[in-house]
Amino acid sequence: MIRTGFIGGALGYHLLRHFGRHAAQGDPCDGGAYRDRSKLEAMFGPGIWTAVAGKVVIDFGCGVGKEAIEFAQHGARQVIGIDIREKMLTLARAAAETAGVSDRCLFCTHINEQADVIISLDAFEHFDDPEKILKIMRGLVKPTGCVYIAFGPTWFHPLGGHLFSVFPWAHLIFTEKAFIRWRSDFKSDGATRFCEVEGGLNQMTIHRFRKILARSEFETQSFEAVPIRRVRRLSKWLPREFFTSIVRCKLVPSATPLGPLGHYEENVQVCAQS
Ligand SMILES: C[S@@+](CC[C@H](N)C(=O)[O-])C[C@H]1O[C@@H](n2cnc3c(N)ncnc32)[C@H](O)[C@@H]1O
Repeated sequence: MIRTGFIGGALGYHLLRHFGRHAAQGDPCDGGAYRDRSKLEAMFGPGIWTAVAGKVVIDFGCGVGKEAIEFAQHGARQVIGIDIREKMLTLARAAAETAGVSDRCLFCTHINEQADVIISLDAFEHFDDPEKILKIMRGLVKPTGCVYIAFGPTWFHPLGGHLFSVFPWAHLIFTEKAFIRWRSDFKSDGATRFCEVEGGLNQMTIHRFRKILARSEFETQSFEAVPIRRVRRLSKWLPREFFTSIVRCKLVPSATPLGPLGHYEENVQVCAQS
């Protein structure tokens, strides 16, 4: 884990109380920024709908299921949303019911069915063990299938600390201890580290993600670190870790044999139908 921050103690806590007074509201997974448009289309372009039509699709880290429902509405044969948080899955099941696609949507914590396409949106900076998730994905995707990943902001982005970025790069200035003390004033999940917050936060950098990909049982068909829009013209002179808004890539299974976690039988758990 990256150790950052130099302002801690009572000073750090009181500064955070001041700067973070509006930060306590809202869940970063409520999809607020994309309420009126498709995040999938913004991330992967309209071609994503052709890629999933008639296919079995897994949405890994599905949150409240908005994208899983969109896949079902755009002709996916079956969509399986996976998330570790039961309360997100419950909301997703209700949303699928309301949207009239519950017959094609399944929301659960684990699955043993292989898919043609796996999508993971804004979740790779949250997974507690992203390397293990890639292994699980390798076991869940058909040999002829593919994986689309897009996520951000990464850790060194101005808002890479998510809730902890009470102003740009604040998450690099204050100590983890000061942040956790401040956060416990309005969150009750008992987290004592960034990685323990509800929904997870793993301090993912572009460099680390590339290393994880290189060690994985996937070949990277495409990879893009998309610069923050405001600095796009200057981006080739700026450090990529600090000025990238999202990372996106497309992976295909490599020919290498699956490692222990790649055998999808090991991830079996019973799923509740939505
Ligand atoms: C920021 S939300 C993104 C939700 C949705 N994909 C979206 O784009 O709006 C990240 C989600 O990943 C889930 N998550 C974190 N760790 C996970 C894990 N190990 N397995 C499955 N889901 C996980 C969290 O519970 C959370 O709902």
